[in-house]
Amino acid sequence: MHVHRFERLWLVGALSLIVLFIGTVTYGAVGAGYGMVDATGGEVDPANTTASENFREPGVYEGSDPNHYDVYVEAQQFLFVPGTNEPIRIPANSTVTFHVTSPDVIHGFEVVGTNINTMAVPGQVATVTAEFDEPDEYGLVCNEYCGSAHHSMEGQLQVVPPAEFDGTGGGNATSGANATSDNMTGGGNTTSTPTATSEVN
Ligand code: CUA
Repeated sequence: MHVHRFERLWLVGALSLIVLFIGTVTYGAVGAGYGMVDATGGEVDPANTTASENFREPGVYEGSDPNHYDVYVEAQQFLFVPGTNEPIRIPANSTVTFHVTSPDVIHGFEVVGTNINTMAVPGQVATVTAEFDEPDEYGLVCNEYCGSAHHSMEGQLQVVPPAEFDGTGGGNATSGANATSDNMTGGGNTTSTPTATSEVN
């Protein structure tokens, strides 16, 4: 059967597009490091989050390793605790694991301008680890519709020079607390833009 040259060209082009589209969707689903929030970050009683062993008082805590910090954040209607009423403060040159949960409905926890972005699901603790090399300021936004004031749910993350870090981010921090860093994954990057080194668990 004779297929005209242009006909063949269009066929190849159309088939390539289909393969390309399937490829991008597949990459987005499994190749880009995204994950569902599941039980690996721990579970909490949404009605009483801070009573849970897996979720301490919201705030910034020193981790078990030098320069590692654990930040416990409660996303609730319509604020981040800490983050909204007082910024989360962490020192530069640190590795930070965010532990995020919600006592009410599903929220989002996104550090604007980075790939730190997770859902905050009632009853589950989402963990995400990132490195912060440079002092900077970042906005926090909720990107899951959570109610009438969803659009106003925002906060701030301040990365301060290590000398200025007073260890009291979030108001509840206890320097020297022997936080255990569950789900911390190693590795990392050396760019100045913080990049989450683990997918959301
Ligand atoms: Cu919280 Cu939208």
